Amino acid sequence: MATDRQQKWNATRIPDQTGRTAVVTGANSGIGLRAAQALAEAGAHVVFAVRDPERGEAAARTVHGSTEVRRLDLADLSSVREFAAGWDRPLDLLINNAGVMMVPQQRTADGFEMQFGTNHLGHFALTNLLLPYVTDRVVTVSSGAHRWGDQRIDFDDLNRTSAYDPRGVYGQSKLANLLFVLELQRRLTESGSGVRALAAHPGYSATNLQSHAASAAARAFMKLGNRFLAQDDRAGALPTLYAATQELPGASYVGPDGLGEMRGAPTLVGRSAAASDPAVARRLWTVSEELTGTRFPQGVQTLQGAQTPQGVQKRAT
Ligand SMILES: NC(=O)c1ccc[n+]([C@@H]2O[C@H](COP(=O)([O-])OP(=O)(O)OC[C@H]3O[C@@H](n4cnc5c(N)ncnc54)[C@H](OP(=O)(O)O)[C@@H]3O)[C@@H](O)[C@H]2O)c1
Repeated sequence: MATDRQQKWNATRIPDQTGRTAVVTGANSGIGLRAAQALAEAGAHVVFAVRDPERGEAAARTVHGSTEVRRLDLADLSSVREFAAGWDRPLDLLINNAGVMMVPQQRTADGFEMQFGTNHLGHFALTNLLLPYVTDRVVTVSSGAHRWGDQRIDFDDLNRTSAYDPRGVYGQSKLANLLFVLELQRRLTESGSGVRALAAHPGYSATNLQSHAASAAARAFMKLGNRFLAQDDRAGALPTLYAATQELPGASYVGPDGLGEMRGAPTLVGRSAAASDPAVARRLWTVSEELTGTRFPQGVQTLQGAQTPQGVQKRAT
């Protein structure tokens, strides 16, 4: 008889992805690389959207399957626009994975606080610009850290000009990821689109994420955690892959099923009350539109199979 462990979902259960195209941001490292690898091995054509194409090429060479590397710096809206302007074909799957955590106080090229600018605003702009081409779903990687700090979006100081708390600011950026998914799904539904917005989090996975923290003490602490507590990056990629390939309702949130959602097999998980507030999600959307100069497009893929303004044909569903 199969054990409980054997029955749990893993990467061997990814359905055939032949003929599908996926863009994975931050695919050169950590769970992004593992997700890209698994999708390519299942037959998808995977675009590595990375800020350093040389490292992207090196990572893509480790993957068996159809891959391509394109430059994308989420901390620079001109790079996001350039990436989107170069896109001209149907896109089954957009995986908003890239992120920075607890980094020293810095600004993006457009002057946004780095964690909010990269993790939320960069992906917000990218999604709006690519959405006319998306035919299946958008998966955004959030974190259990969406519960960190004071669990609210500080609309009065989004760029954190007051005292900088790297941990709280990271938590806010991951809360923004979940609110983004909530409002994106609402807009997709309202516009009659069959495209879905989903969220995932990897639990605690040993990756490069923990090595850029502003504080040396935090880096040392997380190094120990990576060694003794974390699951590996392959396991960390499973919630993303589950959200990307399984039949789930829009706005679902997938994470590991173990104690404290730190590790384990992918399952549907809960989110904080702050991450479930539709009014805050709408307000964040409006503010993000103003900050990025991008908006929810008119030409999303509809259930009726309409063509987008760019002439992208919806796939049959
Ligand atoms: N690991 C965990 O325990 C954990 C837990 C919860 C959530 N997460 C989330 O999981 C996601 C992936 O993180 P990871 O753990 O796999 O960390 P990782 O190994 O450090 O990967 C992060 C990726 O994001 C890329 N990136 C950072 N800034 C970027 C920018 N401005 N433009 C484009 N790409 C950028 C990095 O590129 P470079 O290689 O060039 O830096 C790297 O490819 C993040 O969203 C993170 O918040 C991770």
